[in-house]
Amino acid sequence: MWAPAWSTVDVIPPRVLACPCDILLRMPAPEDPVVLGAADTSLVLDVSGPGLPRIRHFGADPGAAGPALRDGPDPLSLLPTQADRWYGRPAVAGHRESGACPLRLRLDGPATVDARPGAGGRVEAVAADAQAGIRLASELRLEPSGVLRMRHTLTNTGQDRYTVHALTCLVPLAAQAREVLDFTGHWAKEKVPQRAPLRFGVWSRENRRGRTGHDATGLLLAGTPGFGFRHGEVWGVHVGWSGDHLHYIELMPEGRAVLGGGELLSPGEITLGAGQSYQTPWVYFAVSGTGLDGLRGRLHRYVRAHSDRSRTTRPVTLNNWEATYFDHGLPRLRTLADRAARVGVERFVLDDGWFRGRRDDRAGLGDWYVDEKVWPQGLHPLVDHVRSLGMQFGLWFEPEMVNPDSDLAREHPDWILAYPGRWPLEERNQQTLDVAHPGAYAYLLDRIDSLVREYRLDYLKWDHNRDIAEPVHDGVAGVHAQTLATYRLLDELRARHPHLEIESCSSGGARIDYGILARTDRVWTSDCNDALERQAIQRWTGLLVPPELMGGHVGSPVDHSTGRALALAFRCATAMFVHMGIEWDLTAASEPELDELARWIGLHKRLRPLLHHGDTVHADHPDPAAWVHGVVASGAGHAVYAYVQLDTSPTAARPPLRLPGLRADLGYAVSVSGTPGDVPLPAWARPGEARTLPGRYLAEVGLPAPALRPGSALIVEVRSA
Ligand code: DGJ
Repeated sequence: MWAPAWSTVDVIPPRVLACPCDILLRMPAPEDPVVLGAADTSLVLDVSGPGLPRIRHFGADPGAAGPALRDGPDPLSLLPTQADRWYGRPAVAGHRESGACPLRLRLDGPATVDARPGAGGRVEAVAADAQAGIRLASELRLEPSGVLRMRHTLTNTGQDRYTVHALTCLVPLAAQAREVLDFTGHWAKEKVPQRAPLRFGVWSRENRRGRTGHDATGLLLAGTPGFGFRHGEVWGVHVGWSGDHLHYIELMPEGRAVLGGGELLSPGEITLGAGQSYQTPWVYFAVSGTGLDGLRGRLHRYVRAHSDRSRTTRPVTLNNWEATYFDHGLPRLRTLADRAARVGVERFVLDDGWFRGRRDDRAGLGDWYVDEKVWPQGLHPLVDHVRSLGMQFGLWFEPEMVNPDSDLAREHPDWILAYPGRWPLEERNQQTLDVAHPGAYAYLLDRIDSLVREYRLDYLKWDHNRDIAEPVHDGVAGVHAQTLATYRLLDELRARHPHLEIESCSSGGARIDYGILARTDRVWTSDCNDALERQAIQRWTGLLVPPELMGGHVGSPVDHSTGRALALAFRCATAMFVHMGIEWDLTAASEPELDELARWIGLHKRLRPLLHHGDTVHADHPDPAAWVHGVVASGAGHAVYAYVQLDTSPTAARPPLRLPGLRADLGYAVSVSGTPGDVPLPAWARPGEARTLPGRYLAEVGLPAPALRPGSALIVEVRSA
């Protein structure tokens, strides 16, 4: 299979050819590039050496033409450097104690290729620069979903210390991808989209908050100008890491562009002694020829293939936070649990406020013992009551945080993540615990493990309520060590308690990434329960996270974060499309409200197999004040859609509802499962008027749309007749 790769030798200066590793140039090279293909995505790699593998193509499946891509323009290596005539942002950079060492990595043996026709495969390549004392192992996996994931491991093979400045993963960005979509946000307003034409230079989204961040883009996307949910070519990158990170695109005047990302390292954060290694997080790439829905579908399939929870029934949850806050009186919580069970809740979660000294957010954080003053018999009376009602029980923790006013901080001030003698500014009255400190780690593991055992906890809500400032661990910048220590803690708890589910919360949605999702079971999408805001937050968070792993709660009639009053039907129609829950003081709800809530929960449960396993779809609906989104079952025999009125439409007559994702050749019975209240509905949407229409008609012509009021939604179900 391998033949001499002399065609590439001319770019190697004689000095490098003299290096012992260049003997490897005589290794046989593949006749053709390696082609991995899955789900209409193709990765074409030149692994003939002598340098790192070079990506000739990452995009739509070129069919049998794959090998012909050998003749395309000079491709970029996995980590282009100036030695490759790449004068852009270096994907790999560092220096030795003894001085500068620009890298010229050369393959150290043939790449390992495991191609599985139609199901992707993997390529692993090891390269070295003996003179620089660096060895680099690259792993690329094209998943059956068409998602490409990549990571590198850099090892210091020299004698003195090597400091890593950057090590990122990237793919070439096609010339037609010239419009960028990414996301920003803040507390209670995550994933706000922004679009712009791609310009020359670097567009870099960098997070230095010590956690993923409310403003994290999650996905950085570039596509053909005007790409939408159902049309256009789109490329996207996601960094699966919960600490500092970056996503970037660089367009060079030479005409090349790259899309990449990785961990964002602080100066000196990673210094490798002889023989030590640094491994990047996995970085995920996806491409779609059918707009954002195509890309979303691949990412959901990837996550579903790797998450056990995606395949199980997601219990309807009640969280007491916005119902009672820090008021943990047993009678009130028991009544809340009674009401929860009455409306069909399956899991009860006790939020912040149950542990020693925690009567508000100023004290107690870190003292993970049930407060004897509030709970003289421990949590048992509540836990037993919840279980007797047939519900699971979950408990809130914020393991990485500590109030200075806590026994923990008083006894172990050295466990605070800080520059010695100088504590960072407080946020929410709290400091960060140095989880990588062995004492702090052992304490957290012991406390959480004991409580999980004592109460047979089904669920942890794992919170993280501040950006991390000035973190120093063992004299170096501390986010890397902190992130790995937290991952280790989660992994250890999961290994000890395989049944335990864990929710990743960080003042709402500030820790949503595939690094944390690899070890947790759902994300808390936002602290904003306002259904209007939630429509947008779920729509965009849902690019990365499938609906069954995104928490969405029916909030109070008047929302606690926005003060907006929204109808119960709309609050339910919004929460029912994700992992549905309630965060409302049901002890103050009226009987008709409880009945209505129970009906919506019943609808969610009936549709749950579809909602949580089907393909999420979005119409490119022409009305700027309304959205159409839905979920279509595999095979397209069943689907449910929401027609959501966000604002007042600019036209009195509304554009028809064109339903995406159906099969053109099937006939569908159309019915309305949830109504928006007292507005006139077109004939097809009235009770008893269900009709059967061809899939092609529903997709191309569409149903006449009712004139809904802002803040309302119509739920439409279709089933192949
Ligand atoms: C922030 C979370 O996002 C909320 O849901 C709640 O758990 C509070 N923290 C509790 O302090």
